[in-house]
Amino acid sequence: MFAFKLVNVGVAKRTFSSSATVANGVKVAVLGAAGGIGQPLSLLLKHNKSISHLSLYDIVNTPGVAADISHINTASKVTGYVRENDGLKLALTDSDVIVIPAGVPRKPGMTRDDLFNTNAGIVKELAVAAAEFAPKAIMTVISNPVNSTVPIISEVYKKYNIYDPRRILGITTLDVVRASRFVSELKGTDPSNEKVTVVGGHSGVTIIPLLSQTGHTFTDEELKTLTHRIQFGGDEVVKAKAGTGSATLSMAYAASCFVDSLLRAMVKGEKGIIEPSYVKSNLFNSDNIEYFASNVELSAEGVGKVHPLGKLSAYEKDLLAAALPELKKNIAKGAEFVANSK
Ligand code: NAI
Repeated sequence: MFAFKLVNVGVAKRTFSSSATVANGVKVAVLGAAGGIGQPLSLLLKHNKSISHLSLYDIVNTPGVAADISHINTASKVTGYVRENDGLKLALTDSDVIVIPAGVPRKPGMTRDDLFNTNAGIVKELAVAAAEFAPKAIMTVISNPVNSTVPIISEVYKKYNIYDPRRILGITTLDVVRASRFVSELKGTDPSNEKVTVVGGHSGVTIIPLLSQTGHTFTDEELKTLTHRIQFGGDEVVKAKAGTGSATLSMAYAASCFVDSLLRAMVKGEKGIIEPSYVKSNLFNSDNIEYFASNVELSAEGVGKVHPLGKLSAYEKDLLAAALPELKKNIAKGAEFVANSK
């Protein structure tokens, strides 16, 4: 009774070239679309001209969100679904890109890892559905802890024999957005011109900003303060929201930038589109670290090329040494969750 469908006019025809480049618009599914991130993210994606169909899914409130967004006068079709009446299947079928912001956010005093117990189950459920109904879609995940949710999706896809590491990306763009803003505040520059590569993972000490590669010089004190602020910037928002959630608006902005970059590579076949993201990576094979965030060149398949880290300062080498064991634990936790569940 509740599977809700809203269809707009003026939908671009969707076709695929033999190179799998999407020629004429794409279907993007947002899972968790009625949440704090999901709503503004869906709003921003409604403005993306590469998207012909915005498919919104949540366990609650999606009909209202979809009805509201569908009135915006851009060409894309908007559909909204809840769980009943095969909502998840309908939301996912024929999707080219899936974005998952479903799950609980942090409260003051919580780490992202504290969210694991709730969010692991949600992400696994959505990954299973994606494996069944949209196995070819490029899967991008926002739900925390990203360090573990990417391994969870990967392990589910392995179980379904559809695993292609190029198609699963953890969105860490907010770390980059924050880093460029914080550096510009310190240096009095235009933040949109600041390029800060942030590598590693997406929680606390696993977040490694490569400030030595920004072209700026920093005192030791500045380096320490700035690095800490980038690693724990999310806490500023969690604290200011005083128990009502974590970053939603800046995250929606960051995710919409990321999806736009992905679509430029997918739809327009643009080359050299680089976004740091958390993906399957060979960079730290020797440490048995399977996933790592670094600069990733995006392509029609998702991950085109994983770039190495480049030259690190002694300070950054220390940050890396602190990050690797934590990252390894987070990855193992995600993989074990799937191995131990039915
Ligand atoms: P929220 O609680 O406002 O929204 C989450 C939404 O997920 C809700 O609408 C809820 O109904 C939905 N949901 C719950 N279970 C679901 C299921 N099984 N299927 C579909 N939808 C389901 O939370 P918010 O603030 O939007 O955060 C979402 C996630 O994003 C959290 O895990 C948070 O930690 C993470 N996050 C990630 C960031 C990143 O940089 N990657 C930054 C900020 C937050």
